[in-house]
Amino acid sequence: MYKQFKKISLFGQKRSVRTSLFTLLVALLVGLTHVSAQDAAAPADGAATGAAADAGGGASGDAAKGEALFKNNCAACHNVTAEKSVGPGLKGITERRDFPWLVDWIHNSQAVIASGDPYAVKLYNEYNQAQMTPFPNLSEDDIRGILAYVEQANAAPAAGAAPAAAAGGAAGAATVQSGAPSDLFVLVLVALLVVMLLVLGVLLVIVTILSKAVTGDATTAEGDKVSFGDRLKRNLLTAANNPAIRSATIWVFILLVVKATIDGAYSIGVQQGYAPKQPIAFSHKLHAGEYSIDCNYCHTGVNRGKSAHIPSANICMNCHGVIKNESPEIQKIYTAIENNQPIEWVRVHNLPDFAYFNHSQHVNVAGLECQQCHGEIQQMEVVEQRSSLTMGWCIDCHRKTDVNTKGNAYYDKLVQLHDKYSEGSLKVSDIGGLECSKCHY
Ligand code: HEC
Ligand code: HEC
Ligand code: HEC
Ligand code: HEC
Ligand code: HEC
Ligand code: HEC
Repeated sequence: MYKQFKKISLFGQKRSVRTSLFTLLVALLVGLTHVSAQDAAAPADGAATGAAADAGGGASGDAAKGEALFKNNCAACHNVTAEKSVGPGLKGITERRDFPWLVDWIHNSQAVIASGDPYAVKLYNEYNQAQMTPFPNLSEDDIRGILAYVEQANAAPAAGAAPAAAAGGAAGAATVQSGAPSDLFVLVLVALLVVMLLVLGVLLVIVTILSKAVTGDATTAEGDKVSFGDRLKRNLLTAANNPAIRSATIWVFILLVVKATIDGAYSIGVQQGYAPKQPIAFSHKLHAGEYSIDCNYCHTGVNRGKSAHIPSANICMNCHGVIKNESPEIQKIYTAIENNQPIEWVRVHNLPDFAYFNHSQHVNVAGLECQQCHGEIQQMEVVEQRSSLTMGWCIDCHRKTDVNTKGNAYYDKLVQLHDKYSEGSLKVSDIGGLECSKCHY
């Protein structure tokens, strides 16, 4: 069995250099796409991840499959190195335990502990009786893959560096993202510069006029005294007749009006781009991205009800009872629990009370991805509202999107009727997705 591992890891080593290069490229690409088109990035990103997974699965390696399985199921609690996380570091695990034991343990660790296995009981107590999630659905091949990946990650420094390189790639992309200014940003900067130049021009003119009025000829040709007011009026008239000054003033005025209108339009309930600072520096990029913790693990309502739910501090404690508990940010979770006070997260997405939106209908029934509405949450340090959440946005999607009727007996009759009497696929608009009363109480 161990020989088999060695072979796999040799394969894996070469492959992982390629994969890491590939991931780097993909990450860069994704980063760049983000700069040019935030919304369009969502599908492109999905495709890229898919492609990366393909490349990973393609070569041959169990280890490649194992890597994906590890990241999705185990990385939240285990390191591949010897370093402790929620559970022990898995380095050298195949030397500590034999394969059948590992299969039993991973399928159901509680059963192994209950059977009185001394190693298991000792380990369990050592980790404060933290329960490892059971994975009965992982086949023996899956588990071999995971173990091969753990070995590979430890055996060769190059292979070990692969995840780090990938992470570096992602970080690189992030730097590109914040480093390269977007087109819109450049445009705004240029517009600001123009406005400032114009304002400067006008100010200069005013200063000249005023100083002329104050210090200019105090007497006319006839020697009469001319009042300060008259002089000011005369100079202002000359200025007003100057075409350059006139157009400059008009431009400043127009630009100010346009800016005020845009600002005004944005303030009417539309909060796209809103990304408030949160009381704890919780990062989706770290938790949902790097550690691939499932969205449902924390947002427990998405499949079941109207609200997605924000996780309570207890859910954080499943891990942070052990992980990084000395960090000041994590201490805030402890303080909240000790004081029996909920953490006061700042709400980001918020529809007005007269609109009804239900998560389970969209996530569970329609099978939509969170990212279609929320953008690439798993890449955000701080959650930002990516979609406008306007009525037009809801309606637009309802017009374009097919109802997910597959395997849903509820829709069978409707699909038959639709196919008989109408052309094209069954859209949400065909099942009442545009009716006022569906979205308004
Ligand atoms: C929710 C956290 C959690 C997850 C997820 C998890 N584990 Fe564990 N694992 C633990 C804990 C905690 C222990 C220590 C024993 C205990 O307390 O039950 C452990 C122990 C182990 C051990 C024994 C380690 C040793 O040094 O003897 C192995 C092997 C293991 N886990 C493999 C896995 C694999 C493979 C996965 C993914 C398929 C996984 N674990 C997912 C928490 C987790
Ligand atoms: C480890 C727990 C955890 C995981 C996993 C997680 N989230 Fe969150 N999420 C939170 C917490 C805590 C908040 C509130 C703080 C904030 O806004 O950052 C939040 C906030 C949000 C919000 C904004 C809520 C609002 O106020 O409008 C969205 C949207 C969201 N998460 C989507 C996701 C998606 C999509 C995923 C999976 C890719 C995910 N979350 C994974 C814990 C989690
Ligand atoms: C499934 C496990 C898991 C859950 C649940 C979880 N975290 Fe984490 N969290 C981690 C891991 C792993 C790290 C990275 C620790 C490290 O950098 O060594 C982390 C890091 C953090 C950090 C950064 C700490 C620092 O100082 O670097 C914060 C803040 C944090 N988590 C907050 C939360 C909050 C708030 C919740 C609940 C909404 C939560 N976490 C739930 C696993 C989890
Ligand atoms: C069809 C679009 C859509 C999809 C898909 C979607 N959301 Fe939402 N989400 C929204 C809207 C709209 C709101 C604001 C709801 C409100 O204010 O009543 C929201 C709000 C939230 C909130 C804030 C708390 C709440 O429920 O009001 C969280 C957290 C959240 N979504 C997480 C998720 C996660 C996780 C997924 C994927 C499993 C997901 N969403 C999928 C549109 C969507
Ligand atoms: C990304 C596409 C998308 C967006 C954006 C979206 N929806 Fe939907 N919505 C769907 C789909 C698909 C269904 C069909 C679900 C089903 O099969 O019942 C649906 C169904 C519904 C239904 C039930 C309709 C019925 O007749 O059963 C309501 C109500 C609804 N959406 C409200 C909203 C609201 C409110 C918003 C905006 C805040 C919104 N949706 C945004 C895709 C979307
Ligand atoms: C798919 C869901 C959906 C349907 C169908 C729908 N609305 Fe709306 N409507 C919304 C949402 C969401 C908002 C809140 C938008 C915002 O906050 O900008 C809204 C806002 C409004 C407003 C407040 C003005 C505004 O734009 O903010 C009015 C009035 C309104 N809807 C009337 C209607 C009427 C009349 C119909 C039927 C012809 C209808 N709506 C159908 C989702 C819907």
